[in-house]
Amino acid sequence: MAFSEQVLEEIQSKADIVEIVGSYIPLRRAGRNYKANCPFHKEKTPSFMVSPSKQIFHCFGCGAGGNVFGFVMKMENLDFPEAVRALAEKTGVELPRFTRSQFETSGYALQIYKLNELAASFYSSMLSGTDAGRRAASYLKERGVSDDIAAKAKLGFAPDDWSGLINFAKGKGVSVELLERAGLVMPREGGGHYDRFRNKIIFPIFDIKNRVVAFGARVLDNSLPKYINSPETEVYIKSRHLYGFNFSLQAVKEKDFCIIVEGYLDFLVPYQNGITNIAASLGTSLTELQARLIKRYTKNVVMLYDGDSAGEAASLRGLDIFLQEGMQVRVATLPKGFDPDSFVRAKGAGEFDSLIAGAADLFDYKLGVLASRYDAKRSSDKAKMCAEMLPTIAKVSDAVLKSEYVKRLGERLQVSEGALLSELKKVRPDREYEPSEELSSSAGKSQAAMAEKIIIGLMLDDPETIAQVKEALKAEDFTDGGTRKIAEEIFSSYGDGKSFKPAQLINKLAESELTALIAEATSLTDDIKDRAKNLSDCIRWMRCNNGKSRLSELQNLIKAAQMMGDEKRVTQLVAEYSGLVKCQKDFARR
Ligand code: CTP
Ligand code: MN
Repeated sequence: MAFSEQVLEEIQSKADIVEIVGSYIPLRRAGRNYKANCPFHKEKTPSFMVSPSKQIFHCFGCGAGGNVFGFVMKMENLDFPEAVRALAEKTGVELPRFTRSQFETSGYALQIYKLNELAASFYSSMLSGTDAGRRAASYLKERGVSDDIAAKAKLGFAPDDWSGLINFAKGKGVSVELLERAGLVMPREGGGHYDRFRNKIIFPIFDIKNRVVAFGARVLDNSLPKYINSPETEVYIKSRHLYGFNFSLQAVKEKDFCIIVEGYLDFLVPYQNGITNIAASLGTSLTELQARLIKRYTKNVVMLYDGDSAGEAASLRGLDIFLQEGMQVRVATLPKGFDPDSFVRAKGAGEFDSLIAGAADLFDYKLGVLASRYDAKRSSDKAKMCAEMLPTIAKVSDAVLKSEYVKRLGERLQVSEGALLSELKKVRPDREYEPSEELSSSAGKSQAAMAEKIIIGLMLDDPETIAQVKEALKAEDFTDGGTRKIAEEIFSSYGDGKSFKPAQLINKLAESELTALIAEATSLTDDIKDRAKNLSDCIRWMRCNNGKSRLSELQNLIKAAQMMGDEKRVTQLVAEYSGLVKCQKDFARR
């Protein structure tokens, strides 16, 4: 993030959320909080509230929520840095001179770009200039990478040497300090430095201005890890870049769509075969920022991830991210065992084009995946399929298309369109959706989500409880992705009993959808009287609920211990087992 925590806190201490919100809409006092008709959706009775003690706002109607920056962002349609600047101006807080874009032209960033360029040319000279390098070059040949594309993408080879780059750079008068700042070398324990990349194929990563911002590096055999990467530096924020996009901008604009693949070779091999409107997300988790980068050139994407279960999960996540950005997304599926690189080599560019042309729209793709996971004939499975489809459909911005999808879903699953539409109304794009009883047989899930939210809320309310929660639960125990991330952040940053405001935590997670969840969690706990009892109840509930998978694990462990004749361990495991069973019975009775 471009702004320091201190600056954000200083602004927040001067920009009281009640005053700021109150300058846009009339607020009425209601107990400890203020209420209003929500400015972000139409309503007749107020479900929008502002908490002066917590410095957050939250709407129980539409789910919007956040701190003062989030409010101004939403109200004025600004991005985060713009909102910070607006509030800084209003409160007279002076911002440090280096905002991100200024920083890029400041001393260090410029030097790092230059150094990266130099390092790239060093690595690429090693590819042709040494015996080991020629072995790397022949590896690339075997992988079907042409000399042309290797030159264009400035591929290289890092020699098997602890100080190959260091010595080269020293000869050019580059300081070791700068090499370290660029992430190219690492400090040695007890002094000195060594090259980060050794005996690896080098893939320079460019930004859209063709500057080298970082490097990826692949081993030449099957050893692990297969790839390593530059760390984030002053010029490299991983989530902002797409590999190869600098080479494909023109084609993406012309064809008005972009193909998204996972890996370096999945970009290079199709590209050299004439498929030039393509870019790689580098790993399976596509980010919002990557989606926004593409959106500057086209609103249409086709995702083409590996034909395995990781690829499938990644496609589903990516689908929602592109939809959230208001883009049109389709998904092409590779035959099992293929990735885009191997597919082009085995089948040629023609078949690749047909695969892309035949990409499924989001509805058919996602329903197809769900159909393979569930049995659409069983009514409980049908409910689950609806529950998974609706949040995605809710993200479709085109109203006509959206109702078309609802209709198709109703037809396919034989569920009434009316029921789906009323269910769809409850889905809020920016937070987890919990299906109603009619559609879902699994009430347990929403109860889990509730327990998790309450625990988060209580920790935010009283930092002294963090230690207690930390002792009883691990962040992984949180089953909802959102509450888990928040718990992780709280556990790692605030375990020491020092007080902090939810609004501060929101700053840290500012660019994600978690802010609304934090606001919701803290407002949920407003009405709770006996905090200590609620906290221990929720903790117990979570441990008990998570215990279900532990039960079947225990059965196996007990069997194994019996076979080994380990009486002591059997007794121990049986005790844990019956404790869990009792705990679950207790809960079932309430
Ligand atoms: N990746 C990574 N670190 C790893 C594994 C993968 O950063 N340890 C990233 C790389 O950007 C890689 C992408 O995830 O290109 C896809 O991974 P994978 O499919 O495993 O590799 P491929 O790109 O297919 O590489 P190759 O064909 O060389 O095996
Ligand atoms: Mn591959």
